[in-house]
Amino acid sequence: MADLVITIDGPAASGKSTVARLLADRLGVSLLDTGAMYRAVTLAAMEAGIDITDEDDLLEVLETRRFEFSVVQGVTEAYVDGVDVTDRIRDPEVTAKARHIASARRVRERLVEMQRRLAGGRKKIVTEGRDQGTVAFSDADVKFYLTADAGERARRRQADLRAKGIDESVEQVQRTIESRDRSDERRAAGPLKPAPDAIIIDTTNLGIEEVVEKVLGIVRERCSEKL
Ligand code: DC
Repeated sequence: MADLVITIDGPAASGKSTVARLLADRLGVSLLDTGAMYRAVTLAAMEAGIDITDEDDLLEVLETRRFEFSVVQGVTEAYVDGVDVTDRIRDPEVTAKARHIASARRVRERLVEMQRRLAGGRKKIVTEGRDQGTVAFSDADVKFYLTADAGERARRRQADLRAKGIDESVEQVQRTIESRDRSDERRAAGPLKPAPDAIIIDTTNLGIEEVVEKVLGIVRERCSEKL
């Protein structure tokens, strides 16, 4: 177990990835983007041509392919059998299908084990996802849960998509986000929810810098002896 573990959970487009990256950078600690892990398994399963709703088939993909992750200048790079899939795991098709992998209980167990192993190899870590404070690191030093209303999250996601040359109406983006929220919240294993001891931050009316300052202040106050 790392000496310092900070978890950041929350729904899609709540700002958690950006906040986690900036926080890790400012504190000079490691970063773990666990969404990249679900995405890499999704991509590998799609490429293998298996039924992605079949848990046994998914486990076989997990066991037979080699998954590696590293962070380079704040970007989580993903490799499957040595091939760089960093960009491809962000494809909208992978995003849409990842929910099936995220609902597979035994796949989640393996990925949580992998997350603990990766964190164990680091001294201090910021880890972000959906179940980091509730399941993977339930004894983390500080837990954050970022949220924002669905309309605001849709506007943020639409801007991200536009930057990638993908044009979708804000209504369509919001429908997709709300459907992902339902799937994340309703699954039996590792559902999206704040840990009982998480600090909940509503980012609807906050800029990224304001959120980072708030989070940094809390971490400095609570973990001064470990920083
Ligand atoms: O945060 P993201 O959009 O990169 O996550 C990709 C998918 O993985 C999404 O369907 C939610 C899921 N996920 C999860 O179930 N648990 C995590 N700890 C991280 C991501």
